[in-house]
Amino acid sequence: RVLSGLLRFHNKQAWTPEMIEQITSDCRVTADFVSEAEETALHEEVEGRLQKLPYEQSHWDEAIHLYREREQRTWTPANEKVLARVRACSFPADTAHLTYVHILDLHADGHIKPHIDSVRYCGDVITGVSLLSSCVMRLRHEKAKDELIVDMYLPRRSLYRLGGIGRYEFTHEVLGETESEFNCERVSRGRRISIICRDLPKQQAKFFTKMQPIPEE
Ligand code: OGA
Ligand code: MN
Repeated sequence: RVLSGLLRFHNKQAWTPEMIEQITSDCRVTADFVSEAEETALHEEVEGRLQKLPYEQSHWDEAIHLYREREQRTWTPANEKVLARVRACSFPADTAHLTYVHILDLHADGHIKPHIDSVRYCGDVITGVSLLSSCVMRLRHEKAKDELIVDMYLPRRSLYRLGGIGRYEFTHEVLGETESEFNCERVSRGRRISIICRDLPKQQAKFFTKMQPIPEE
């Protein structure tokens, strides 16, 4: 179920129809992407190791405030199936993936400031499942950050995908509790864990296909 109702364009007259069309086709939210049981299973697999970490306060140049994070390569077979579904839904068929999955645990009082994921580490698509809490992800055009804004409502257990201009020409951020509103309605923001999959940057993908795969451990 892809609901275009989960995207809200601010200031619609400032947008060209082409841009609206590009954002709507490349940036998507799928509600109820994981079931409650799948959410619990994913949560259980990441919670133990997250709990050993303190929440980090951001430094002046960092994008994220009050978070802890990990990377994980191997998963229980049930969770691996969910991740395969994430990739099948969000990436084109021939994509070279990062082998690890990024787990970001955002404190109830935390937020993610506007940023664009580095093209050195991340390819054309960023996709993630939201666990434990709903939130609002805001995209702002890099060069018109107060005019071209689109909000994505990410319900708990939904999948989002950022691609195209949404990935390269717009910053993304996750609003903090006090700012969290979608379509003039409050969105209550608790602790949120996101399970994020990325693909390899194009250059690296080319490089890696020429090499033998490196055996793990
Ligand atoms: C990031 C990021 C979004 C999310 O880690 O770069 O933007 O869904 N995360 O947590
Ligand atoms: Mn990001």
